[in-house]
Amino acid sequence: MSTEKTLVLSSDHADINLRRTIAAHAEAQGWVVTDIGPQTSESTHYPLHGEAAAKMVASGAARLGIVICGTGQGIMMAANKVKGIRCGVCHDTFSARMIRQHNDANMLSMGARVIGEGLALDIVDAFLSAEFEGGRHGTRVDMIKAMED
Ligand code: RB5
Repeated sequence: MSTEKTLVLSSDHADINLRRTIAAHAEAQGWVVTDIGPQTSESTHYPLHGEAAAKMVASGAARLGIVICGTGQGIMMAANKVKGIRCGVCHDTFSARMIRQHNDANMLSMGARVIGEGLALDIVDAFLSAEFEGGRHGTRVDMIKAMED
């Protein structure tokens, strides 16, 4: 199990500042962050950014990914279309921890129009500090992986 602290971040235009705050927060904890933008708040299309971040995780360029759009839903749907990606929307810390421990999620999605910065950072901490438990959960994650083939 890799414990490499590499993280990719992406968002749409809903809140590029939250993304940058998360980048600084994760870097302060020793994560090597690749922030793939966008760099302006000009209206853009969340599928592009979800796919780009997901491809970095799927290729191994980053071990984990965090994506942000208005609700967290659209960019999560896009990320999950990339083979090998298990991305969950979380707006509470319990779910953020559990998607790592039980679902081996490799990406977290959040809605910048749903939660505030303080909770978002707590959710990031829960997600980044948890590890997959394997065992019976591994059997179930393998069943998800089998659907991709
Ligand atoms: C953009 O206005 C908004 O639709 C997007 O950020 C996201 O919430 C979609 O799921």
